[in-house]
Amino acid sequence: MVEFRLTEEQEELRRVAREFAQNEIAPVAAEHDQKSSFPWEVYQKAFEIGLINLTVPTEYGGGGLGCLDCCLIVEELAAGCAGIASSLMVNDLAITPILVAGTPEQKERFLKPFCSKLQMGSFCLSEAGAGSDVAAMTTTAKRDGDDYILNGSKMFITNGGVASLMTVFATRDRSLRHAGISGFIVPADLPGIRRGKKLDKMGQRASDTTEVIFEDVRVPRANLLGKEDEGFKIAMKTLDLSRPMIGALAVGLARAAMEAAINYAKERVTFGVPIAQHQAIQFMLADMDKEIAAARLLTWHAAWLIDQGFRATRESSIAKAFATDMAMRVTTDAVQIFGGYGYIKDFPVEKYMRDAKVLQIYEGTNQIQRLVIARHLFGKEYR
Ligand code: CAA
Repeated sequence: MVEFRLTEEQEELRRVAREFAQNEIAPVAAEHDQKSSFPWEVYQKAFEIGLINLTVPTEYGGGGLGCLDCCLIVEELAAGCAGIASSLMVNDLAITPILVAGTPEQKERFLKPFCSKLQMGSFCLSEAGAGSDVAAMTTTAKRDGDDYILNGSKMFITNGGVASLMTVFATRDRSLRHAGISGFIVPADLPGIRRGKKLDKMGQRASDTTEVIFEDVRVPRANLLGKEDEGFKIAMKTLDLSRPMIGALAVGLARAAMEAAINYAKERVTFGVPIAQHQAIQFMLADMDKEIAAARLLTWHAAWLIDQGFRATRESSIAKAFATDMAMRVTTDAVQIFGGYGYIKDFPVEKYMRDAKVLQIYEGTNQIQRLVIARHLFGKEYR
């Protein structure tokens, strides 16, 4: 049975998120982009109406929502500002390893306090020399009695400078590649954790991205996620669950760009008529509409599979790659429709285009998504 209709509850979630994006996010998006400032006040309001920590079960104080519900919310928030939506979504990415592999005791100990007031989380996987090739990481975790000692540094960490809770991946022996990696729950106030300065990015400038440095950070064994050496698979399972949300983020951003281009096309006159009457412009907008619709369906399909309990590695990668490549095309075409005005900061579309670029890079580059998809087309013997 295929069902495309949303439930009344889902329509309500969408409405609440849309109003929040219009009233609280969109009005401050340009300012936070320009100043590269972190919008704590927006997140505080999001926290108060339950638009953060969406996937955490209600018993621990979260939203208790499924992946499709989250995609509906993230699309709306991203239509307000992709950078602001991104940091908010990364809270769920950060705690997903705990949902995937945490014990009931760990969930009680970490998730409840995390959700009891506004806090940010970060997912510390990427390194300066190990982004696409996760198994090449060099951050080490050495056993020392009942503790692990973490040393190394993580790069391009969303919420890195503002997080109070981190999930961190480190290896006990680099030569073991993926088989030596473990995951840890790390409160960010542990001695030895330092944050680099906020990175000065092209787009999504409201979101906080930094290096995070670990120097002899003593983490209790009780904070190990799953078993020792299971960290790589925990990280991969986490990314399977979060990539559809990047798809949704791309759909929301592209939708905002298309809506801006439609409004502009109705006002801008060339050759004596609004440019919306030129077929050249109509066809560009029609292409945007069909690509956004296709990306949304792929995103919802991956999310639906996850909610049904299926493994959706392939579908998550398809949704992420398709939707984010689409967002890059749509935002670039929106700038084209605005012409010279699209290239200046007085109009929102140049920001949409800058915000879109990183969607093709983070949560696994779109080349990595294609690699994952291709591995599902060919057997292991073709690797
Ligand atoms: N689920 C469960 N298990 C998985 C899995 C998955 N999705 N993917 C791989 N595995 C298992 C494999 O089955 C294999 O298991 P066995 O040892 O038992 O056979 C093991 O893990 C190793 O898998 P691979 O051989 O496929 O590993 P690989 O080294 O070739 O790498 C990769 C695979 C897909 C390229 C991986 O490195 C990858 O996903 N890279 C991209 C990393 C990424 O997405 N980073 C994003 C950072 S977060 C971020 O960007 C957030 C933000 O700022 C917003």
